[in-house]
Amino acid sequence: MADIDTVQGWLGESERVAVLTGAGISAESGIPVFRGPGGLWQQHRPEDLATPEAFAKDPRLVWEWYDWRRARVAQASPNTGHHALARLERRLPVLTLITQNVDGLHERAGSRRILRLHGDLWTLRCTGCGRQNRNTEVPLPELPPRCRCGALLRPAVVWFGETLPADILQQASVAAASAQLFFVVGTSALVQPAASLPLMAREHGARVVEINPERTALSSHCDISFLARAGELLPQLVGD
Ligand code: APR
Repeated sequence: MADIDTVQGWLGESERVAVLTGAGISAESGIPVFRGPGGLWQQHRPEDLATPEAFAKDPRLVWEWYDWRRARVAQASPNTGHHALARLERRLPVLTLITQNVDGLHERAGSRRILRLHGDLWTLRCTGCGRQNRNTEVPLPELPPRCRCGALLRPAVVWFGETLPADILQQASVAAASAQLFFVVGTSALVQPAASLPLMAREHGARVVEINPERTALSSHCDISFLARAGELLPQLVGD
């Protein structure tokens, strides 16, 4: 396919590559996406589960949902798309993986240089003393979990209405602005500021390549938009 050869050529001549991933790269691992048919936001209202107000109102309900998501992810494995990106990182001088996903599947596939824009399902943060700890217990022994200090623990994820970690966002912006080649994989590109990163890359002269079975708001701004699944196309682009 001409486009695959073209992108492989761009990969061969690029020193600095960045990738933005969304829930779609984990879809082939059996993790539901948020929007579109079967998406999590089709069954639940985000404002009931993924906002500070929801947590304040009913921390147990919010934790039941996150405990369920942790269990789903714990049973899942990284797919060929995650593994292709981990291989690409080992091959390129600089590959910055910017993810909106909190599932930890990129780490389990072996990616190392990861910017987690929306946090991590496997880290709990105390709402009282601020202590953060990695916790992979599935299921959690008590809901909602509490810190040694007695205060409620929350998932260390970014909820709607909350700001992204400034240092992570800054690093992601630098990576986007300096990338020669920017991949957008498995995101509906509807949530800011993540969705602006590919446009920032383009404004700074990067070529932008999208991988998504559906067209998105970004598709018309991409040099090449593959209407394909990440698990199928990334291995073709990256090779073994
Ligand atoms: N390969 C690639 N893309 C896929 C695949 C696949 N196998 N399956 C689905 N997709 C695409 C869908 O077409 C859709 O465009 O993945 C995208 C998933 O979009 P969303 O469900 O909106 O997920 P995402 O873009 O990551 O959402 C961004 O919104 O709910 C918040 O914080 C949450 O990080 C999330 C943010």
